[in-house]
Amino acid sequence: MKPFEQIASKIDSELHHYLPRKWKKIGDIVILDLSKIENGKEKIAGIYAQVLNVKTIIQKNKISGELRKPEDTELLYGKETVTEISEYGIKYKLDLAEIMWSPGNTGWRSALSGPEKVSEFYTFDKPKTIIDYFAGIGYFSIQMAKGYPEAEIIAIDKNPRSIEYLTLNAKNNSVYIKIINDDCRNIELKADVIHLGYIGNTIDFLEHAHNCLNDNGTVIFHEAYRNNWLGFKSRSEWGTIPEKFAKLMDENNFTVQKFERVKFYGPSTSHIIAKLKKN
Ligand SMILES: C[S@@+](CC[C@H](N)C(=O)[O-])C[C@H]1O[C@@H](n2cnc3c(N)ncnc32)[C@H](O)[C@@H]1O
Repeated sequence: MKPFEQIASKIDSELHHYLPRKWKKIGDIVILDLSKIENGKEKIAGIYAQVLNVKTIIQKNKISGELRKPEDTELLYGKETVTEISEYGIKYKLDLAEIMWSPGNTGWRSALSGPEKVSEFYTFDKPKTIIDYFAGIGYFSIQMAKGYPEAEIIAIDKNPRSIEYLTLNAKNNSVYIKIINDDCRNIELKADVIHLGYIGNTIDFLEHAHNCLNDNGTVIFHEAYRNNWLGFKSRSEWGTIPEKFAKLMDENNFTVQKFERVKFYGPSTSHIIAKLKKN
């Protein structure tokens, strides 16, 4: 029996219609939406925990604000919200009550150890300094520290809780990263590569990145755009560079070298990644 069938077999059939068939398993914690269930949520969450073999069930909620923190966390089962994830040879510890984790970005977090489509974005020519402006718990910086042992890796994040986990994760993965707890716009350090792993108003950080990049420097730019704006009609068009995007970047003194979709972000929007060269 599939996990959902096992779960459903233990729950009153009148409720089956309201049971989520999808969930996010992050380490040994599951995030799911039981908001449609009025009574007995805890018991149902306990059944999910048992079948999915996890220690905690968290009610799905919104990720909000500049620091991308989960709103008030509702624990449906269990107490422990700290978990550990292993991906591409790296271990990340984090507290899901305080810090977001995007399971949908998994392939893209592989960076240099991933498929060509991904690794080409993260292949740089002998970089001396790489700075991650939105480092979180180290999703990108730790990969870069492993992939470019000769380079200095600098990780910046505004959220002190992310910084705590980033410090621990760098230590647990035996890499050295210079870690700075501040707004990236306050940091004037120069780099050959700047990573902008942010969604929402990434473009607002581009001028500062431009000022801090060495000549011929590279920005890795993440953002979400409406598919209509990007103007892609078929699958085969992905991988080409949308004209509007190229123009926007040109106005910001960057040339787009590569462009790809990371994932759908809602029905009509896509999370994209672009490799930009400083003009
Ligand atoms: C979306 S998360 C990082 C996601 C991550 N790159 C990934 O791949 O899953 C964004 C991070 O940016 C941090 N942040 C937001 N605004 C910032 C700023 N102005 N300067 C530095 N860090 C900032 C937040 O604290 C958060 O940890």
